Amino acid sequence: MNVRAEEVARLRALFPALAEGDLAPLDNAATTHRPQAVLDAASRFYKESNANVHRANHRLGMAATGAYEAARQRVARFLDSEAEEVVFTRNATDAINLVARGWLEPRLNAEDVVVVTALEHHSNLVPWQQVCRRTGARLCVLPVDESGRLQEPFEFPERACFLATTRVSNALGTIVDTAALVEQAQSRGMAVLVDVTQSAGHLPLDAGSRAADFLALSAHKMYGPMGVGVLRGRAQRLAEMDPVSYGGEMVDGVSQQSANWRAPPWRFEAGTPAVAPVVAFPPALDLLDSVGLASVRAHELDLLGLLLEGLKGIEGLLLVGPPEAEDRSGAVSLAIPGGDPHVAATLLDLSGVAVRAGWHCAEPLLRRMGQGPTLRASVALYSSGHDVERLLEALPEAVAACRDPAPNL
Ligand code: ALA
Repeated sequence: MNVRAEEVARLRALFPALAEGDLAPLDNAATTHRPQAVLDAASRFYKESNANVHRANHRLGMAATGAYEAARQRVARFLDSEAEEVVFTRNATDAINLVARGWLEPRLNAEDVVVVTALEHHSNLVPWQQVCRRTGARLCVLPVDESGRLQEPFEFPERACFLATTRVSNALGTIVDTAALVEQAQSRGMAVLVDVTQSAGHLPLDAGSRAADFLALSAHKMYGPMGVGVLRGRAQRLAEMDPVSYGGEMVDGVSQQSANWRAPPWRFEAGTPAVAPVVAFPPALDLLDSVGLASVRAHELDLLGLLLEGLKGIEGLLLVGPPEAEDRSGAVSLAIPGGDPHVAATLLDLSGVAVRAGWHCAEPLLRRMGQGPTLRASVALYSSGHDVERLLEALPEAVAACRDPAPNL
């Protein structure tokens, strides 16, 4: 193991939800747990500096605004960006919808083509479908091969003007070579959005994600609070983008008939933001930086290797996605031919193992892989070899029982 068992135990102790009980938490792709430092920061905000931001010049108002803007700077540092390039949103979905409505739609023509990959989560697919529907533009999907890897060479249609790609598939765990993909798209003059929701807490930021015009992420998938996401847009792109939500705080001046906007990023944050979740996000980033994303990756790779090896000895399961751990980050999806993965997940829960069953918000991808809902196990920095062993021990019975037409629950 790259991260020794004592180190995993030390990390796990930072997470109150994991301190008690006997659950093997292997549903980390849906959301991670949060360390005490994140819970403390949210609670401290309400106790010590509760006020609205950018409004009041009393001491609480100034403390709240200071903490909120310090969080923006901390996120910018994590993403190697400038604070003015960081927009706080509700989640990654909200960030992607903002780009779809505010940046792409006003500049899209019926002759244009928007490109996505076949690996996308619904949140990085449906907003582009809707923009194409409204403008008459065409949506083109870069295909995956039988093992769920993006097919190369990448082929962009002639009028392709925008690429939206994930860095890691939440459903299969496939890592996309975003460095090559983004480079090719940008060299053709395309603008690019990379959805790093599933990678930002698991892999070091790659060249493609750094170079992208837009990045989207959700704090809750990287040990931060629910209710806050980030859109990182290059300064020029944010300057070009229209707001899609209007109201208080995003305006510079308002008359009875018109209004004008503050500078980016504040023009995209209408209304009272999720201040407590935002100010509680930096301790999660501190944790990731203190462990180091290269170490997190090495640890998770060991666990994925252990899991993939152990799965070879279990009958009735079909691995969906790349066979090699190196091509995956975080998640492993399993089909159970003739069985219901939801039943298997319930049985695993009875054995104290938490995994997710379902479409994983990626129905077209699972259909392309010739599958329906799957069982997905996903690791995090606090996952242990023991968690994986418990899953491997409990799986044979759960799989056999869920293939039984009348499982004995
Ligand atoms: N998108 C989340 C998942 O992958 C909820 O499960």
